[in-house]
Amino acid sequence: MSAQNLLIAALVFMAGASAFSELEAQSGMEEAAAYDIGRADVERGRAVVVGVYAVPPGPDAGPGSPAISPQAGACFQCHGMDGKGDKAAVFPRLTDQTYKYLFDSLQDYASGVRQNAVMTPIAKALNDQQMRDVSAYYAAQKAADYPPVDRVDPQILQHGAALAAVGSATRGVQGCINCHGPDGVGLPPTYPYLAGQYARYLEGQMQAWKTGQRKGDGFGVMENIAKRLTDDEIHAVSQYYAAIRPRTVTPEKAEHQASTAPLPPTPSPSSAR
Ligand code: HEC
Ligand code: HEC
Repeated sequence: MSAQNLLIAALVFMAGASAFSELEAQSGMEEAAAYDIGRADVERGRAVVVGVYAVPPGPDAGPGSPAISPQAGACFQCHGMDGKGDKAAVFPRLTDQTYKYLFDSLQDYASGVRQNAVMTPIAKALNDQQMRDVSAYYAAQKAADYPPVDRVDPQILQHGAALAAVGSATRGVQGCINCHGPDGVGLPPTYPYLAGQYARYLEGQMQAWKTGQRKGDGFGVMENIAKRLTDDEIHAVSQYYAAIRPRTVTPEKAEHQASTAPLPPTPSPSSAR
């Protein structure tokens, strides 16, 4: 073990707040039935992306599903056909995001666990099958380009990089890489990628956990982390992840590395989902 790895391990131990193994267990058997990728279809997902699922107001609108016009509900208008999203408008990138994470997010918007004025009605208008299909579609998109990296004060980037790698011992926060993988590449199936995601979006999500607008992260791991970090720290780590690009590490490789790396110590979950 290198000196840096030892340091990381020590900080992780001190933080003692990893829900890693619980989340792994949680994403096991009983959830498998709910999101079963075997029942998802990328081509049907494409129809959802162009808004074919949407029900205009009228007799076809099912009970409980708000009527969404095909235009308003078409994912591509905001996230693009390739899932690139829109940096200026703060529409997140969905390209190559993990299938389960996308599906869970749509469920969370529909149930109100995650609140957003734009996404809540859109998710409520989707049934479970459409959520599976559209999640499979975006998870299968691999090739959207990234926008040029913003010019950011190198000191802010350095601060963000340190938080990502080792967290903050004083705040009891472990390094983001423990869950989000090397290079912010994500760890399928549960942990989303952060690398190349838009900074304002990342920052907004961490603030949403602080204010309670976003829940649904198993055992409150992210809520706990966001609440411990200062606004400056959230800003720095968001800028850092927006500036890095997943290079050689694919999610599959990251998953392999994770399964061969020592697990952080088992925490006491602060809040159940
Ligand atoms: C009018 C613009 C708009 C449309 C149309 C739209 N989205 Fe979104 N989407 C957003 C915004 C804005 C967010 C960020 C919301 C937040 O802050 O939680 C978002 C977030 C998401 C997320 C969460 C991403 C993450 O990293 O957590 C998913 C998944 C998603 N959208 C899927 C879809 C799907 C599927 C459709 C089509 C059925 C769709 N969106 C249509 C604007 C849109
Ligand atoms: C113990 C594991 C763990 C650690 C450590 C961790 N995260 Fe997370 N993170 C998660 C999980 C799980 C989710 C998905 C939550 C959900 O499904 O709503 C997530 C989601 C996120 C998201 C939302 C991404 C999106 O597309 O909306 C952001 C932003 C984020 N984490 C940032 C960070 C940062 C920054 C750090 C380090 C300071 C960090 N995380 C450390 C587990 C972790």
